[in-house]
Amino acid sequence: MKVMRILLGLTLVLMVVVSCTPRKEAPKSKVLVLYYSLTSNTKTVAQEIATGLNADIEEIALVEPYDTAFQATIDRCKADREKGILPEIKPLKSNVADYDWIFIGYPIWFGTYAPPIASLLEKVDLSDKWVVPFCTFGSGGLESSTKDLADKLPKAKIMTGYGVRAARMAAMPKEVEQFLKKYTTLIFDTTNIGPNIPSESAFVPADFPEQHPVSAEENAIFEAAVNGYPMLNAKAKTVASRTALDGIEYLFTAMDMPREKKADMPPASEIKVYVIVEKGKAPEFTKVVR
Ligand SMILES: Cc1cc2nc3c(=O)[nH]c(=O)nc-3n(C[C@H](O)[C@H](O)[C@H](O)COP(=O)(O)O)c2cc1C
Repeated sequence: MKVMRILLGLTLVLMVVVSCTPRKEAPKSKVLVLYYSLTSNTKTVAQEIATGLNADIEEIALVEPYDTAFQATIDRCKADREKGILPEIKPLKSNVADYDWIFIGYPIWFGTYAPPIASLLEKVDLSDKWVVPFCTFGSGGLESSTKDLADKLPKAKIMTGYGVRAARMAAMPKEVEQFLKKYTTLIFDTTNIGPNIPSESAFVPADFPEQHPVSAEENAIFEAAVNGYPMLNAKAKTVASRTALDGIEYLFTAMDMPREKKADMPPASEIKVYVIVEKGKAPEFTKVVR
């Protein structure tokens, strides 16, 4: 009887020990969100994407952080460029080799990804990875930075990214949710492996129809959208529109004129300006493509 009681006791102890031992860790997410951010806009987008995909996330940190004062950062970037150097980044904690999908986030600086991303690309091997750029900007730069990434990483599979103006961060969560729908399918649907991955066009909204000269009403929408943005001095020429999630999206072709009579002002150039008019809201431009 005593032996039975001891055995029963031991069995109970064993059951408690087994139930309290942590289970073997769930397999690591194969998605990593890596980002650099100086004033937190990109960080907010990175967190939204990582939450949406249940992904691991890491911020790229500099050994010598940039000054948050705009002009000081510009001056340091110019000086670094003249010296041909990039800012030194701290070693990553994540092992990039463990992941298949890398979402890379950055602010647009001088028309492309900020220099800490250039430093990152010198250090990590992204060959054969699915790379999805995302960025925040004053007026635009997703397309130019995506192209620069593709040029720099010929062996990576660069996918269509997401970009948002700093002034439109309020719209970001809804836009990211929409943006991630495609990637949730691509990443987590196990039937989409290797060559079975559907073509990108399956997710791209219908194209804009042909451009036509702007009417007075369309011009008023353009002016309202760019009004107050100091970096543009643009006149709309032609436009096309299509139905968007909560309203109408316009694609304007415009001429951007020099803002001041100064020698270092960029010359007049043709630009594309995307404008969204959501129901009950004032027109906003979502990006400028130069
Ligand atoms: C040095 C510097 C250069 C910038 N250059 C551009 C630019 O070329 N085009 C643009 O649209 N925005 C530009 N911006 C604006 C930033 O891209 C924008 O504020 C971004 O949201 C900042 O992201 P963060 O808060 O994650 O640092 C620049 C900002 C800084 C500090």
